[in-house]
Amino acid sequence: MANDDTSGKDLTGVTPSGTAHGEAPAGTAVVARDAFENPGFPPHRPRVTDIDPKAERRAERWVYTLFYLSIVGSIFAIVAYMVFPIDAENIASVRRNNLFIGLGLALALLAIGIGAVHWGKALMSDHEGIDERHPVPGTPETRARAVEIFEQANTESGFGRRALIRNSLIGALIAFPLPAVVLFRGLGPQDVDPVTELSHTMWKKGTRLAIDPTGNPIKAADVTLGSAFHVIPEGLQDLEHGLLEAKAKAVVLLMRLKPEDLNELPERKGWSYDGIVAYSKICTHVGCPVALYEQQTHHLLCPCHQSQFDVANHCEVIFGPAARPLPQLPITVDAEGYLVAQSDFHEPVGPSFWERH
Ligand code: FES
Repeated sequence: MANDDTSGKDLTGVTPSGTAHGEAPAGTAVVARDAFENPGFPPHRPRVTDIDPKAERRAERWVYTLFYLSIVGSIFAIVAYMVFPIDAENIASVRRNNLFIGLGLALALLAIGIGAVHWGKALMSDHEGIDERHPVPGTPETRARAVEIFEQANTESGFGRRALIRNSLIGALIAFPLPAVVLFRGLGPQDVDPVTELSHTMWKKGTRLAIDPTGNPIKAADVTLGSAFHVIPEGLQDLEHGLLEAKAKAVVLLMRLKPEDLNELPERKGWSYDGIVAYSKICTHVGCPVALYEQQTHHLLCPCHQSQFDVANHCEVIFGPAARPLPQLPITVDAEGYLVAQSDFHEPVGPSFWERH
């Protein structure tokens, strides 16, 4: 250890040349003696598995049994997912489902962990060694030594030689993520193609536009200049299943501008009614609700990542990460003056990913 003590006290017992005994010249670094001798490594004590072939085989059996047990745990989790489905009406089914899937996953993970630890402690080489620090990058000799170490580790761990352990470990590691694949698939609709499902909404010809959340239909005369309404399809509240999913796709923003301020695309002439326009409320970036309307500029703002859409110009993107305009819902009025949809959206709502399908 370096010491820059310049007090002249003899720390080393070594007299520097040209100085009186017990003194070090100013600025001379001296090395203090270690207070204790380095005892080095304790003598290597072989383990029972190093000297008793029967104990070694027993340890090997334990290790591969644990890895096979992990495979059983993974399969159990998948089977439990199918045998104990979640019934939304029955809370006990949720508990059963979580309990048995959890037990399977716990067994799978624990068995891999315990097996790996036991393999390392009982069968892999336990010789201690010192790995000196070296500059980065290593020299060709160092790299050659690294390869040598890997080969040595392979020999000592028996990874190449102990085929049963190696193969069972590989099998356990491959099987372990499978429950996650099955569980993730369960998040999507089971009996229909998710892409088809997400490409359509509840809107169809003649569906009245209703106020969110009351569900009261909206008359064109109620939409005053500069106002904005959060809108759902009439009848949405009557859905017994999938209400939230249907609402998440169908929500719409309704605004009224002066007809002369609207710059409509030729192919969309007739999609608005007397300056009233309806656009999907789901941001085309990553699907947040576009909830802020700036009446003076006719801009819609998505609060998530600040995408802005220009309502006067068919909701084109004027700022932010969204890649395409908000889809427009074609509207008109029925005989009683209520606003109704002319059809569903003509393109998928939500993040741009769905436009590719
Ligand atoms: S979700 Fe709207 S800007 Fe990102």
